[in-house]
Amino acid sequence: MAKIAPSLLSADFVHLAEDIARVEAAGADWLHLDIMDGHFVPNLTFGPPIVAAIRKITKLPLDVHLMVTNPADHIEAFAAAGANWLTVHVETAPHLHRLAEQIRELGVRPAVALNPATPIGTLEEILSVVDMVLVMSVNPGFGGQKFIPSSLSKIRRLKDQIKRMDRSVLIEVDGGVNQGTAPQVRDAGADVLVAGSAVFGNNDLALAIRNLRQ
Ligand code: DX5
Ligand code: ZN
Repeated sequence: MAKIAPSLLSADFVHLAEDIARVEAAGADWLHLDIMDGHFVPNLTFGPPIVAAIRKITKLPLDVHLMVTNPADHIEAFAAAGANWLTVHVETAPHLHRLAEQIRELGVRPAVALNPATPIGTLEEILSVVDMVLVMSVNPGFGGQKFIPSSLSKIRRLKDQIKRMDRSVLIEVDGGVNQGTAPQVRDAGADVLVAGSAVFGNNDLALAIRNLRQ
């Protein structure tokens, strides 16, 4: 069964602790934290101090999605803040192999993200050292965007590639995942569904999460 990782980007930042408690009670598997630097993506969010504050109030795994041009400069701080997963974009990391190993040495699970325009061929040499691939199904930067349909074939092709390997690598999908698109995303082979607006935009968080997972 697919795991659901609500993205806090769509939470109420004034009542963040309350929203985290609500989403945890509603059955969320992980919390997805979007770190944006205003360079790699045209938006700014938050950094390690907020992640550390969130770490103190939840036991859920923290899935930290780095949308920054210089991820290597920040992995230590996010590991110290309590990240369980650190996802770096292939588009930002020329030394991705070393970076993934460094993330693992910090006691954090390494993952790699692909923008919609980035082909899965770029993963060929890195799949053996990461624990998860994040397929972006929108161009990163903002919540509430429309799912890009060609992401489905990308997920399927990636799933086939992973099945041929001798180790398990999760597929996470992020962007425009809602009640309408989730069934196709799951059928294509996604293991983890990130959802911001589809979760926090619903008054009944438990129902929203159930609808995505089913
Ligand atoms: C977008 C972020 C997503 C975002 C998804 O750049 O990486 O995690 O919060 O939001 P929805 O689910 O609303 O598309
Ligand atoms: Zn994200």
